[in-house]
This record gives sequence, C-alpha cells and structure tokens, in this order.
Amino acid sequence: MFFPEYRARRLRRTPNLRRMVRETALAVDDFIYPMFSIHGEDIRREIPSMPGIYQQSIENLVMEACEVFDLGIPAIMLFGLPEKKDALGSDAYSDDGIIQRTIAAIKAEVPELTVITDVCLCEYTDHGHCGVIKEGDVDNDSTLQLLAAEALSHARAGADMVAPSDMMDGRVAAIREMLDANEFSHIPIMSYAVKYASAFYGPFRDAADSAPQFGDRHSYQMDPANRREALREAALDVQECTDFLMVKPAMAYLDIIRDLRDHFDLPLAAYNVSGEYAMLKAAAEKGWIDHDRVMLELLTGMKRAGADLIITYHAKEAARLL
Ligand code: PBG
Repeated sequence: MFFPEYRARRLRRTPNLRRMVRETALAVDDFIYPMFSIHGEDIRREIPSMPGIYQQSIENLVMEACEVFDLGIPAIMLFGLPEKKDALGSDAYSDDGIIQRTIAAIKAEVPELTVITDVCLCEYTDHGHCGVIKEGDVDNDSTLQLLAAEALSHARAGADMVAPSDMMDGRVAAIREMLDANEFSHIPIMSYAVKYASAFYGPFRDAADSAPQFGDRHSYQMDPANRREALREAALDVQECTDFLMVKPAMAYLDIIRDLRDHFDLPLAAYNVSGEYAMLKAAAEKGWIDHDRVMLELLTGMKRAGADLIITYHAKEAARLL
C-alpha cells in the first residue's frame, strides 16, 4: 500500500467516514467526578485555582451530586475536609466523620449514584502527611491499621467502593482483609496503584487543605522518572487483590497508562489531576487555547493510551458536550 494507489486522506473526506473509522470514543460512562465535602453549613466556596470546582457543605454537595447523576455520570470520588485535624487523622475513621455523613446524605437522595471514597489520611492529619509520623517520616505498618479502619467505616456508611491513595506498602491487602472480615466482601477496591510525587497536585492541596506541613511526599509517592517501578507497584496491588488499577497524574504519564494496559487485564483508571485542570482553565481564560476542544483532546488521549475510566474535574462539562 503505497502512494499514489493508497491515499490515507480517502477515509478522512467526510464527517461520516471519519466517524466510521474513529478508533477511540469518549463516553459519559468513562467519567468519575471528584467532589470536596467540607464541615459546616451553607458553604459553597470556589477553589481559586480550580474554577468551577467547589468546597461544599453536605446539603450543597448533595445538590450537585443529583446534577452529576442527571448528567449520566456513573460515579463520584469523595474527599473530606473535617472540622478538626489531629496527629492520627481520627475524623477519617470516625462514624460521624465528614465523609461518613456525606455518604449517608448522598445515599438518602441519589442512592444509584456510585460513591467512591478516597482513603487517605492527609486531609485529616494536622501534619498533612498520608500516615502516622514516627521519627520524622510516615510509618508504613502502623498506618495500615488506620487505613483499613477508614475503609471499613466508609463501607459501613454506604460507600460503593474505596480508593486508597496513600501509597503505603501492603494497604490493599490490609483493606481487603478488613472489609472481608466485616461482611463487605462485595465492596471493590480501586487502588491508586501508580501514584507519582507530582507537582500537578498543587491546586488539590488547596482544595483539600492537605499540604504537608513539613517535608514532602517523596518517601512514599513514586519518582516521576520511573517507569519499570510502575509495573512492580501495579503487580503488588494485583497480588493483593485490587479490583481496579489507577495511574496518577495522567497527562505527563500516558506511557505508564499504556504500560499498565498492556501488562494487566484489570479495569484501568487515569486521574486527570488538579494541576492539569488548572493549566487548561488558565490558558483558556487568557484566550490562548480553545477550552472545549483541548479538553476533549486530552481526555481522548488518556483513553487512547489505555484508560477505561477517567477521574476528572471536567466530567460535567465533558458530559454536556458528548
Ligand atoms: C491524597 C490525594 C491527593 C490527590 C488525590 N488524593 C494529593 C496528594 O497526594 O498530595 C490529588 C488529586 C489532584 O491533584 O487532583 N489523598
């Protein structure tokens, strides 16, 4: 097949031809919408670096959850901002913690919306790290018990799925064991299997008030330079019985998404993170790029790289365009 007999442009001539040979299709089924639940009443505070995304008290968050459901988006990912933080992040696993109350309120109003909870301690600890601090670093094994307790308490409150984002070793197994021992063997785990120590999380840490108060997360999140290590991380989580894999962030890590797609057959999610969202919003605000086209192109790229699902702050706007 060579020019001039073969002409690639033949199949690009009309919109219908292009539709017929399109290899990747975005659908509203692919999206998971992250939401921030804050303690208090009548709060709806836009995050300055994330236009269109809000910290909301429960009643307002439930209203938006209804809108998300009406748009046909299958799931939300919940993050909590508690009233009080402490060294062990106790609100995270308290029966009337911010997330537990939020889940109950959502389930009372839109029971069919799938609620996935972020399982981590950084939003609940006064030091902002994702686990228990010992000798200046996050202690892996004592953190596991707290994460398992947090996942169990989310399941008890009605969560449909838990998503550990802490990057402790062994946390998927610890959570699986805890859920299974308490009659929650039907609750899936979506592990943030491959999570890099990324500067793209900047706006999220304002949104979730979860910036570390000292040091950084390099002793538990992955080095952005590493690709083979991503396969090892994913293999560990598969061994520990995760139900989904995830790569985070997405834009600068499309090769990793493709690697995981080629090596594992579990459903794969990509997290289109806060900094990626903020960059697009800022450039569009300046009139430098076409917001909607760039958004759909980025989301399509993540899917083409191999993601089945995309956790994205764009979920509502993308759903409206599809
Ligand atoms: C941690 C968590 C983070 C994000 C999701 N879960 C931040 C971090 O690890 O510092 C980032 C999401 C985003 O940037 O959109 N629990």
